[in-house]
Amino acid sequence: GNHNPWWANAVVYQIYPRSFQDTNGDGCGDLPGITSRLDYLADLGVDVLWLSPVYKSPQDDNGYDISDYQDIDPMFGTLSDMDRLLAEAHQRGLKVVMDLVVNHTSDEHAWFQASRDPQDPHADWYWWRPAKEGHEPGTPGAEPNSWGSYFGGSAWEYDPQRGEYYFHQFSKKQPDLNWENPRMRQAVYAMMNWWLDRGIDGFRMDVITLISKHVDADGELPGVGRSTMSAGPVGPEGYSNPGPLCQDGPRLDEFLQEMHREVFDGRHGYMTVGEAPGISPVRDEFITNPANHELDMLFLFEHTDIDHGPESKWDVVPWKLTDLKKTLGRHQRAVAQAGWASLFFDNHDQPRSVSRWGDTSTDRLRVLSAKALALLMHMHRGTPYIYQGEELGMTNAGFTRLDQYRDLESINLYHQRVDQAGVVSGERMLAGLAAMSRDNSRTPMQWDDGKYAGFTAEYAPREPWIPVNPNKDQINAASQVRDPDSVFSFYQRLIELRHSDVLVSAGEWDLLDPEDEQVYAFTRSLPAEQAAGIKEAEGHKLLVVVNASSRPAKVPAQTRALLGGHAGADQILLSTYKEEETTASLLIGKLSPWEAFVYRL
Ligand code: NOJ
Ligand code: CA
Repeated sequence: GNHNPWWANAVVYQIYPRSFQDTNGDGCGDLPGITSRLDYLADLGVDVLWLSPVYKSPQDDNGYDISDYQDIDPMFGTLSDMDRLLAEAHQRGLKVVMDLVVNHTSDEHAWFQASRDPQDPHADWYWWRPAKEGHEPGTPGAEPNSWGSYFGGSAWEYDPQRGEYYFHQFSKKQPDLNWENPRMRQAVYAMMNWWLDRGIDGFRMDVITLISKHVDADGELPGVGRSTMSAGPVGPEGYSNPGPLCQDGPRLDEFLQEMHREVFDGRHGYMTVGEAPGISPVRDEFITNPANHELDMLFLFEHTDIDHGPESKWDVVPWKLTDLKKTLGRHQRAVAQAGWASLFFDNHDQPRSVSRWGDTSTDRLRVLSAKALALLMHMHRGTPYIYQGEELGMTNAGFTRLDQYRDLESINLYHQRVDQAGVVSGERMLAGLAAMSRDNSRTPMQWDDGKYAGFTAEYAPREPWIPVNPNKDQINAASQVRDPDSVFSFYQRLIELRHSDVLVSAGEWDLLDPEDEQVYAFTRSLPAEQAAGIKEAEGHKLLVVVNASSRPAKVPAQTRALLGGHAGADQILLSTYKEEETTASLLIGKLSPWEAFVYRL
């Protein structure tokens, strides 16, 4: 049914605070910087801000390594800066969601430091294991199993003080918390309640589907000690992948339901979204079905994998529009009856969508494709997420040398693949980074065409922490906010459409012409019994058509049949071209490059 909670009509805007707005000239974005830009965000029309982590952190992984959950990193400001941001956002009707990183902490967190003592009550709050039998602890090959870290090297780090190894799926400064320990879980829930009581409106939960590991009957991790399970095959870089045995583990539902009871029951007006590697569509429905009291929605990554090579994401392969339809379609259908989808191309871990799925070869095609991709994604059923700068059509960074990168994943994986394992040449890995590195989306927000794009003052004592993209001269907010033809203005209209037309948020999604490799088309409609209560929706159906290519495209058969006798300009609610141009396209049955429109049938 159409339960239609507030976040079903909402658009979320993700802020990567380090790269958004610097106010004190240290080259890093900060909380007062976000507060100073709230009017811009309100003008864009979004409803919710999601802040990537701003907690106290050694910044090994740009804040995804938290050393104190209940404090703000001095680099970003203070707790009172946070209170002020919350108050100012709420005043403008904007909600604020924080990043919750509880699969792991920093190794500098007090809990981890305490757990290094086997007698301490925190001894069991992380995954500590002895060296492999018959090996000298701390020597190569003595790691408890063959798992590799996603950020390079073994997933095990030896601690001489404790005389044991700890498990870390991400960097060695991000030890995995042991969710099997109930006292650890209660500490996490207490921290979450503390933030909600302070006034935040929910959480985006970092790799939350990794918190329950697939252990054997004795609680042992695969391949460790006398474990009865295998850690999986070792790949060309010398490690096996912990993924399959650390995702969607047997106690995930239990932990999420417990969290719901301890934190969210009895609260209203909040939202939760879980980052969900390894979650199948069936599990997606279960976890987001309100009847199961887990999470409101999940980020699935099937569609962002379609251009990854079979061995790694760094070996980029051409993607097919039919694969995008299949993967997004699976997510849409999974939650058609119950549950809810989140809609995104970009975030701080993905390259920029206009560079990846669009066309940046000319200014004209860049603008057209940025709009077409926005329309494609936002017109699906679910809650759309905009990543800072996406609303301007910001592009990839264009880095050509390793020393331009800051991201530990990019740098570590370069060394592991090129220098250590020798599975790829330096040139090829740099090409892989140019296409896929997370730094592509982390360059400073382009506010204007000033020396540092308005991200930091021109006289600032420190340069931005990562180079500004030189295309800030062409692509920036100052030139777009008042230009009706800009990508920014197009996003404004898309958001308005969602807010004003119930079909956009609630309508059923049905794909048309699934085999077409150029045109992505679908309808959004409400069945009579649902539309009955909602006056504007009665008898209405939206048709969404996107030429996702830089070549002209024929309107495919099913879409053409639906359009039938219609061709009125007043039925075009939004188009990447002028209304009369789109009407003309429909008359001849041929779409221009990146022509995309919403049509009321
Ligand atoms: C997913 C986050 O989005 C990413 O940026 C981070 O590096 C890892 N989780 C580890 O926290
Ligand atoms: Ca700063």
